[in-house]
Amino acid sequence: MRILVTGGAGYVGSVTVERLVDAGHEVTILDSMVTGHRQAAEPLATLVEGSFGDRTLVERTLVDRRIEAVLHCGARSLVGQSMSDPALYYHENVIGGIHLLDALLAAGVDRIVFSSTAATYGEPERVPLRESDPTRPVNTYGATKLAFEGAMRWYGIHGLRSMSLRYFNVAGASERHGEDHDPETHLIPNLLKAARTGQPATLFGDDYPTPDGTPIRDYIHVIDLADAHLLALGWTASAAAGTAEVLNLGSGGGFSVREVLEAAGQAIGTPIPTAMGPRRAGDPPVLVAAIDRAREVLGWTPRRSQLPEMIGSAWAWEQRRGET
Ligand SMILES: NC(=O)c1ccc[n+]([C@@H]2O[C@H](COP(=O)([O-])OP(=O)(O)OC[C@H]3O[C@@H](n4cnc5c(N)ncnc54)[C@H](O)[C@@H]3O)[C@@H](O)[C@H]2O)c1
Repeated sequence: MRILVTGGAGYVGSVTVERLVDAGHEVTILDSMVTGHRQAAEPLATLVEGSFGDRTLVERTLVDRRIEAVLHCGARSLVGQSMSDPALYYHENVIGGIHLLDALLAAGVDRIVFSSTAATYGEPERVPLRESDPTRPVNTYGATKLAFEGAMRWYGIHGLRSMSLRYFNVAGASERHGEDHDPETHLIPNLLKAARTGQPATLFGDDYPTPDGTPIRDYIHVIDLADAHLLALGWTASAAAGTAEVLNLGSGGGFSVREVLEAAGQAIGTPIPTAMGPRRAGDPPVLVAAIDRAREVLGWTPRRSQLPEMIGSAWAWEQRRGET
């Protein structure tokens, strides 16, 4: 299959491109490098530098590269930044996204898989979260992702076949690619950084109504996540014209911040310095995905999403990167 991956030089995008290329697909990456890294762009893929919001560039790329399906991973995705600059998030994630959809229509490409997020739900009424649960995002980031999901659904009237994948907490690394955000807001890379530098990692609250007082989150190994994308792209080929599907991608279980901290200390063989800070606004006590729908629709099962494997692979990747 000939696939365009927006954001293919980012964390999730690079691992997914690696899996796609290894499976024999012909991949074109479209990345503006705003938070991506040139060295993360798979050498076996063709790299086009630019924005998915540049309609002319996208349409030309779709036609020239004879693209059959698009994987839309590119986005602004920092919750804090989305609250200090909502306009940026609406311009990039929503307006840019509409330009992307218009380019697809113009080029006659009717298959798209989208990197959505658990942030579309906001504070859950119950866990595990199901795709049919209310979506009431509590930050601009989640709101813009939900808005784009809606746009894809209504572009179904033009025949678009779309799948939104609502990721929970992505973790771990492949052989070649790993997580490299700046600023880094995710727990596991921040714990690894604390282990490396000796500077304590801040944990946000230990007075939650959970067994050990710290929040519980659902972590999914980035390779399990990437494999779901391969299946999702296959699904778009056989879906009826106009279909829009939404699936959660998590492991279906949760770990508390303290459990992750302990597992990280064990995985790397040294205790990790931390400092306890206050709760962060909008952080619910528990966020765990119900994943039966992804199992049913895609025939997908997460296989690597245990803490030692996720943390160990991330640490190994950081060590390898440090050596190069
Ligand atoms: N990492 C997670 O835990 C997580 C969780 C839920 C959802 N997501 C979503 O998954 C996707 C990938 O996340 P990530 O962690 O790999 O982030 P990332 O920042 O590492 O990757 C995003 C990539 O998109 C590119 N990009 C941004 N705006 C662009 C534009 N206008 N045109 C072209 N390229 C653009 C960036 O340069 C970067 O390479 C995002 O859509 C994010 O919202 C990630």
